[in-house]
Amino acid sequence: MPEPEIRVFDNVDALFRAAAERFVERARGSVALSGGSTPRALFDLLAQEPYRDHVNWTELGIYWGDERCVPPDHPDSNYGMAKQHLLDKVPAGKVFRMRGEIEPHLAADEYQRLLPPEPLDLALQGLGANSHTASLFPHTDALKITDRRVVANWVAEVNMWRLTITVPELQRARHILFLVTGQEKAEAVRTVIAGPEDPEAYPAQVVRQAQGSVTWFLDSGAASGL
Ligand code: 6PG
Repeated sequence: MPEPEIRVFDNVDALFRAAAERFVERARGSVALSGGSTPRALFDLLAQEPYRDHVNWTELGIYWGDERCVPPDHPDSNYGMAKQHLLDKVPAGKVFRMRGEIEPHLAADEYQRLLPPEPLDLALQGLGANSHTASLFPHTDALKITDRRVVANWVAEVNMWRLTITVPELQRARHILFLVTGQEKAEAVRTVIAGPEDPEAYPAQVVRQAQGSVTWFLDSGAASGL
């Protein structure tokens, strides 16, 4: 895999503007949105000019890299957050939600059938302070699954079922874009990018074997360990 692109931004506004520009460039056929809180600011930007009219929302396949096993109107729903900050504001025509409200293994099977046959054009990724990405958490069963694209993953650390794309599915994405902000992520960023390889403990390290390109957009706090 080629060396990752790493860009450090002095302020988060510049980071999210650059992320919106990269989204416009790369989100052509399909994109997998990340969850958590970081992408909120990106979604707000994409929902307004000058970015809104530069995305072919009616044709773009919108997927998720992971979802909490909760209903779509639950405050923890990644879909719910994207709906509030983006999908209710753009003419999205091809939205494929992970159904967090049904039995997790059934939801994972269903989502495997919804993903496009070809690799995702863009996988937006966040990073936890424990080096998880999507819902590939340290020392969880999902890390060992190589014959599926999506899996239900019991995550004891957060005491809940999650749905997540698998390691090989993430690795086959054409472009992986990490958006990471905050000093509290600095150690995880350093370990994932430059630390000794131990993907069981630091799952986001699996992008070292990515087939496509990998980009890190970091603010100065998240980059302070590099
Ligand atoms: C999730 C996310 C997860 C997230 C990281 C970072 O469902 O929680 O997909 O992988 O990207 O936990 O979350 P924050 O952006 O809230 O720090």
